[in-house]
Amino acid sequence: MWSCEGLTTKGLIDRKTMYVLGIETSCDETAASVVFAGREVLSNVVVSQIRDHARYGGVVPELASRKHSEVISMVLDTAMEESGIPLEKLAGIAVTRGPGLIGSLLVGIGAAKGIAMALDIPICGVNHVHGHLFAALLEYPSLRFPFVGLVVSGGHTSLYHVKGHHEIQLLGKTRDDAAGEAFDKVAKLLGLGYPGGPTIENRSMGINRIAEPFPQALIEKYNLDFSFSGLKTAVLRRVEKAFGRQYDRGRPGSFHRLVPEVVTEKDVSRINNIAAAFQDSITEVLTTKLFWAAETCGVDTVVVCGGVAVNGSLRRKVREQSRRSSLKAIFPSPGLCTDNAAMIAARGATLISSGMIDDLCFDARSRW
Ligand code: KG4
Ligand code: ZN
Repeated sequence: MWSCEGLTTKGLIDRKTMYVLGIETSCDETAASVVFAGREVLSNVVVSQIRDHARYGGVVPELASRKHSEVISMVLDTAMEESGIPLEKLAGIAVTRGPGLIGSLLVGIGAAKGIAMALDIPICGVNHVHGHLFAALLEYPSLRFPFVGLVVSGGHTSLYHVKGHHEIQLLGKTRDDAAGEAFDKVAKLLGLGYPGGPTIENRSMGINRIAEPFPQALIEKYNLDFSFSGLKTAVLRRVEKAFGRQYDRGRPGSFHRLVPEVVTEKDVSRINNIAAAFQDSITEVLTTKLFWAAETCGVDTVVVCGGVAVNGSLRRKVREQSRRSSLKAIFPSPGLCTDNAAMIAARGATLISSGMIDDLCFDARSRW
């Protein structure tokens, strides 16, 4: 009989022989993946809702949970089929417990509990941010502790001193917007659509000299917190100066499209220059603080993960700095940087093999 008292495990399972199904639904991606031995990705299915949210310029929570409900069964079936293993071989289920949108998280958690119950296997709720941090282990088995990890995505911008699988110390985080959120809001102002990161990166290509740089919000030397609201406002003021306020359909100072629908060639060049200056400033701050953290903790490896870690300018700056300081810089490949379930399954394998499982009554956590 299933109860809230706990799931009876059949003893600790060896991670090296374990097939784990991971499920991720914390924001606008419905994802499922089967990972063998905590390392080998047998399937990695991601259904993105980007097109559903694009017309609203950002993720609409109610719409997100509805879309997860529509596709979760199909995503799970596809992940199992592509893995080539039968359900009975699964040793455990790992599901994102938070942080994230409650309605979205509950869809994944509900599905995970159903499967765990039906198969009588352990389940564990995974911290999404830790999933991002450990995604690097999937591709770099030689990665050794301790390292400093920067998780930089649409919902998070945090630095961690990772001393072991279960020893993760927060060093600093954003005091306001996450870096990805700043990319998305600035792209909205510039009329570049959602999500903002890839479009801002595209528009910045080929602009090698920043004519009018934005200031860098470093707060103070060796401070490992971030703040991007000042940069966002500086961009807003520059866009207002360039295009006026007449196209602003929102409140003054709000992040609505400020450039006209139809633009001249000169306008395009102005937009691209602002995008490039913004990208340059934000990636410079992320890089500087990452290496301050590495220096403070005395580690020889830095890991950059999360959706913004796809950004080419950030990767270049981190690589250059790592060469200068003789540190190793590791980035998961783009598909493992943005939200995915392989990172959740891999993290789950570590937790389950350490006996860190949950009972069937665990809830979703919007914050963690
Ligand atoms: O990790 P992720 O898929 O979801 C969250 O956990 O938030 O990250 C999504 C974020 C979005 O804000 C998106 O604009 C940003 O990652 N992003 C990028 C790039 N690709 C995605 N930011 C900068 N440059 C990119 N190429
Ligand atoms: Zn994420």
